[in-house]
Parts: sequence; structure tokens; C-alpha cells
Amino acid sequence: MKRLTKTNTLMLCIMTLWFVSCNSEKNTSNASYENPYEDQVDSILNLMTLDEKLGQLNLPSAGQFTTGQATNSDIGGKIEKGLVGGLFNIKSVANVKEVQEIAMEKSRLKIPLIFGMDVIHGYETTFPIPLGLSCSWDMDLIKQTARIAAIEASADGINWVFSPMVDISRDPRWGRIAEGAGEDPFLGSRVAKAMVEGYQGDDLTKNNTVMACVKHFALYGASEAGRDYNTVDMSKIRMYNEYLPPYKAAVDAGVGSVMASFNEIDGIPATGNKWLLTDLLRNQWHFNGFVVSDYTGVSEMTTHGMGDLQQVSALALNAGLDMDMVSEGFLTTLKKSLDESKVTMDAIDTAVKRILTVKYQLGLFDDPYKYCDFDRPKADIFTDEHKAFARRVASESMVLLKNDDQLLPLKKSGTIALIGPLADTAVNMAGTWSVAANQKESNSFLDGIKEVVGYKANILYAKGSNLDYDPEFQKRATMFGKEIPRDSTSDKQLLDNAVAIASKSDVVIAALGESAEMSGECSSRSNISIPQAQKDLLNALLDTGKPVVLVLFNGRPLTIPEESKNVPAILDVWFPGSEAGLAISDVLFGDVNPSGKLTATFPRNVGQIPIYYNHKNTGRPLDNKEGKFKKFLSNYLDVRNEPLYPFGYGLSYTTFDYSNLRLSSDQLDSDGSIQVSVDVTNSGDYDGKEVVQLYIRDLVGSVTRPVKELKGFQKVAIKKGETKTVTFKLTKEDLKFYNYNLDFVAEPGDFEVFVGTNSDADLKSKFKLVE
Ligand code: BGC
Repeated sequence: MKRLTKTNTLMLCIMTLWFVSCNSEKNTSNASYENPYEDQVDSILNLMTLDEKLGQLNLPSAGQFTTGQATNSDIGGKIEKGLVGGLFNIKSVANVKEVQEIAMEKSRLKIPLIFGMDVIHGYETTFPIPLGLSCSWDMDLIKQTARIAAIEASADGINWVFSPMVDISRDPRWGRIAEGAGEDPFLGSRVAKAMVEGYQGDDLTKNNTVMACVKHFALYGASEAGRDYNTVDMSKIRMYNEYLPPYKAAVDAGVGSVMASFNEIDGIPATGNKWLLTDLLRNQWHFNGFVVSDYTGVSEMTTHGMGDLQQVSALALNAGLDMDMVSEGFLTTLKKSLDESKVTMDAIDTAVKRILTVKYQLGLFDDPYKYCDFDRPKADIFTDEHKAFARRVASESMVLLKNDDQLLPLKKSGTIALIGPLADTAVNMAGTWSVAANQKESNSFLDGIKEVVGYKANILYAKGSNLDYDPEFQKRATMFGKEIPRDSTSDKQLLDNAVAIASKSDVVIAALGESAEMSGECSSRSNISIPQAQKDLLNALLDTGKPVVLVLFNGRPLTIPEESKNVPAILDVWFPGSEAGLAISDVLFGDVNPSGKLTATFPRNVGQIPIYYNHKNTGRPLDNKEGKFKKFLSNYLDVRNEPLYPFGYGLSYTTFDYSNLRLSSDQLDSDGSIQVSVDVTNSGDYDGKEVVQLYIRDLVGSVTRPVKELKGFQKVAIKKGETKTVTFKLTKEDLKFYNYNLDFVAEPGDFEVFVGTNSDADLKSKFKLVE
């Protein structure tokens, strides 16, 4: 590279920036991609030293980067030298501006930084954990949560969010199942698209849109034994059909960045896996954004046994990784690898170009401070409007698991006992991965119930038990400021107090389950039941003979066979977010009729895991629905095959009857479509919403096919006494799958179609796909 004097470097810089601001075209889609910023990017690249290039590929964590210290810190010094491409997890306009000023005023080429953050389910206004959110089955609502998160985050200086997390998981032992949309690739793909569209909007250069980052690419949700960061091993055919679709949906929706996962794929960690990051992502899916590693994903490859830092950094770059989060392997070793011809300048330039392009797409070269408007935080963050939306979304996400004798909804009268360690803890309501949540102004269940019931009923409260008997376990389960203080009262006394209060009440609400940090990253569990202290509390409350409603807090499906048998009403509220208490109370007292449906199967016991609705038939399926054991068929000696609650399951205060399933034709032509219609009658006493679900079964295939696959759903509001006809359209596209050669095909032949209220739907019909 030619040596440039200071003056002509500056001139070139100014000219480049001028050229850019006159050419602010946008491109957030990846169809037949032509980079509109190619010339600008190239002209900057030509000015860069090798160190500056490697700097663009470097993403340190802001850590405890605080105002005033920026210029003195190690990171501040690196930014000055052009050795940082972006920073993450730094909060507030003042902090972001201060750091951006270093890049813009003190670094040689004045290339703006990007600012990322783990904005997973809302920002200061927090929505239900993603698993809960997916149970709303409402894509407009989900998209709007991402839109609001983008508005709030961008108002606080952020322009890049590490979301959506779209890892399919069939293993509730894995704590990160909380962060995704559950077990189904079809639903997961719809959620992925909705979230990318919500974050990125229609114009990434606007100051209230942010670049999304789909993660964790790929297959992270299939870690062996549900233990976080563990090995993944899977056939290609399963990958393509069951685990990859949501990532692809995010790419098809124009996601700007992709995060490589921690796990290995076919024996090579994703961070250094060329098949994954180049052959699949770039060549097959035509992704044109950039790929970032997960936190220390590059250096962890040394621990995986892939070589020293220099080796693994070269491996990652050559595989197609563009940005190195935290490891600084790219920054510190790629120069040597270049000298030794282990990487090429072309590979480095390609990665740099991708990152510079994104900075153009975000409009940062036009205005590096466009996300640093000091008036915006007050106007745009944690607003009444956002909170009202959070309350609505939370109530739409809750799943009514059981409601014997219509115990729910409760009346706002008499004496109500609210009991349990989750009843009065506002800090736990946001759930896991809520780094920016405004916990101080969020409401606990107890706050909410008092507000919703007002003077109409007498609310009594007792804690009843600690989260768990084991204080060490409780410590591990209540990190990151999400404490549930341990009571100095003895376990017996806590229980006795609760029983005394329950005995004086007309109804008991037990607020039990997991704390926020019992799910999420590195929160795997081998036993996914309610902790024993709380189980004992629940039994004592049931023994009072009072009607008991279990309000279940959880970041994953739990094993609750006894609770399911003994407690008359169970409402699963997940972690509902900022307006938790109000939203739960809206549902409990019938201001909102629950309509959530499970997106991950609830097993009867951990031995059934992995358990999921779209399994294969096997050559020896159990042929009875009563769960009667049969020798030499695929079943267990000690537990029946079916789950406790299947995928798609969820009750309402009203009832819905399905009838008159009909097809417009029993034959589907290759270029045609058929209509599948069903009548749904609200036969109960309340207006309500129902998620009508359509599944298919491909009866004969060139490879084995699942017993059911979700292919459509509609959430419809039906008034009491009303019947609505719900119609789905099926085309050949809907019947496609990846065959043995990984071609995406629909094979002619017979199909069954099922429509119903959950994945157990048995109202069915048949059609034939003809060539
Ligand atoms: C997680 C990612 C997250 C990253 C940055 C990692 O430990 O796996 O999901 O985006 O940290 O905070």
C-alpha cells in the first residue's frame, strides 16, 4: 500500500465523507445484492493500514466503561489508534457519545463505531421472555415489541441489537430455551421474520431503527443433555428441515448481521466452520451482511482443541467470520498469519468491507451521532404508551394450562391470599436477559393485583417459602441483581404464616416456579420441577381445602405432573416483563381472556426429553392413545409417551368447538392451491381468541416424514355464541422439505391435513399432491 501523507489522507477522508453524504442509498435486503456503497467503502479501505483494518474487525465489550474514563481506558486508547470497530453493552447517550467522540475526533481515519447490546425482549420497557412472547402466536404483536425495543435502544445510543435468538430447542433442560420461540421451525421462522422487520424497519438509516443480529448460528439449542455450551451432533437432513429454517427466515427478511454459535457442527466449532459460514450462509442463502462471533467464541476454539490463538483466528477468518467479539484474536494474530500466508489480504479486506458497509447502511458516515440525541431518552424510553403495550402483550402470552370447574376468572371480591416467593419480587418479573430493564419502576405481582382489584377485595400476602431450601442453589439462581432475599424466619414458620393466611381467605393464589435467572445462559437444570420448598408450600396450601390457583413463573417447560393433577387452576405467565403484576391480574380477574398456546412441549418427566410434537413415526409406534404399555413397541415401562401438555396447547375461559373441516379439492396440482376450511364456534360464556392450527402429514416420502408438521395458524377473535369459518390456503410450496440430497422438494402423493386447537388435533382430511 502506498504511503500517504497526513494532508492528503485528510483530503481523501473529507472527499469520501462528502461523496457518502451525497449518496445515501439504502439496502437492507439481500435479493440480487449489489453493494451501493462499494465505491465509498473501497476508497476508505485504500486509506487503511493493516492495523486499522484489523481494528474494524475487533469488538470489545464496554465492560465497566464509564463516562469520564473513556479516554484513559485501554479501550479508549485502542479507539484512538483505530483498533476498535464497535463496542457493546454500553448504555446511555452520554456514554455512547463520549466514546464516539474519541473515534471521530482522535482516530486517524475517523471511522464511526457501531454500538451493540443484548436487547432481547424489550429495552427499558420489557416484554415477556421470548419463549412467552412466542406463545401469543401473534406476529404483529411480536413485531411491535421489536419495534418498540428498537425505538428505545436507538434513543439511548444503540444501533445494533443481538437479537433475534431463533435457536430451535426441544430440550427444556437447556436454560436458553427461554430466549427463543420454542420447538417448531415453522412458527420459529415466522417469529424470526417479525422480529427482524420490527428492529430494522423499512429503512436502516432512520435514527429509530437498529440493525438486528440473528443468533446463535447454528443449532445451539441442540446441545447434548441440555447442558449449555455442550457438543451438538446432528444429521444434515435434520438440520435443514428442523433447525435451520428460522435462521434462514431471518436472512430472507434482510437481517444485517449473524452471530456464530459456541457449539461445534460436524466436529468444527461454528465460529471456524467454513461450511456453515460460507457455503451455507453466503453461497446457498446469499447473506450479505457480516458475521460476528459470540463472546470469546474465537479464543474458545483453542479450548475446543483447534489450535492456538493464531491458528483459530486464521481458521475463523478463513471460514467467513468477520468480527471477533472480545477475544482480540483477529487484532493480535492476523498480521502474523498474513506474513506467514495463512490468511490473505483479500480475506481481511472482505471482512472489513462488510463492516464498513453496515456502517454506511446505518447512516453513521452521514452522522456518527445520529443516535445521540439527548432529548430522545425522555421522550422515547419507558413511555406510558410502551408500558401499556407491554401490559397487553404480557397478557396475550400467558397460557392457561388447567381450569377445573371454571375456578378462573376470579371475582374481585372477598379475601384473596397471594402466597409465594415470586409474589413480591419486581426485579424477577423481567426474566432473563433484560440488561436494560427499568426494574425500579416495574411492578411486582403483589403491586399489580392491589392496583387491579383496588378496594373491591381484601388482599393478604405471605411469602410462604424461600425459592428453594438450599441457600447455595438460591444464590446461583438469583444473580445479576435479581435477588429474592432469603428470609431469616425458619422454613416452618414461613409455611405456617402462609397457611394461616390461606385459611382466612376465600381463594389462594400461589405464585411459584422459577426465579428469572433459573433460565437463560448457563442456567441448565437436570431437574426441571418446581423447587421442593415451593412444592411443599403448594401442598400445604392445598391441604387447607381452599381453592388454589397456581400462577407459574418459568423460563422453560417444567415437569409438573403432580401439580397438574392436584391443583384446580394453573396459569403459566412465564416472565411477563415491566407490567407483570398488572398483566397477570388482568388475566386472573377476567379483564383479559387468556389465549396463549404453548410453543414448547411440557414433558411428564425429564426422561422423556427430547420430546416434541413433530417427531417421526418409527417402525414400531405405540398404537393406542391411552398410553397402555405394549412390549416391543416404541414406549417406556414407566411413563407414557405423550407429554403432559402438547405443543400448541392452551385453554381459554370460553370453549371452542371445531366442526365441518372441508377441502376445496382432494387434489392439489403443482401450480394450484387448495383451501382448507373449518368452522370454529365459541360455545362458552366469554368472548375469546383462539389460535386455530393447521398441521399436515406427508404419508409416504423418499425419506421418513414427521407425524405432524405445523403449516398454518390464525389467531381469531370469536364472540360468545358466534361461529367463524377459518380458511387456510395450501400450495405445493407448503409441502416442500429437504430430501436425502438436500434438495427442497415436494413429493407427489397422499397427505393428511389436521386442524384444531393444539398439535393433538384429530379433525382430519386427506388430499393428494399430483405432478
Ligand atoms: C451470549 C450471546 C450474547 C453475547 C454478548 C454471549 O455470552 O451467548 O447471546 O449476545 O454474550 O453479550
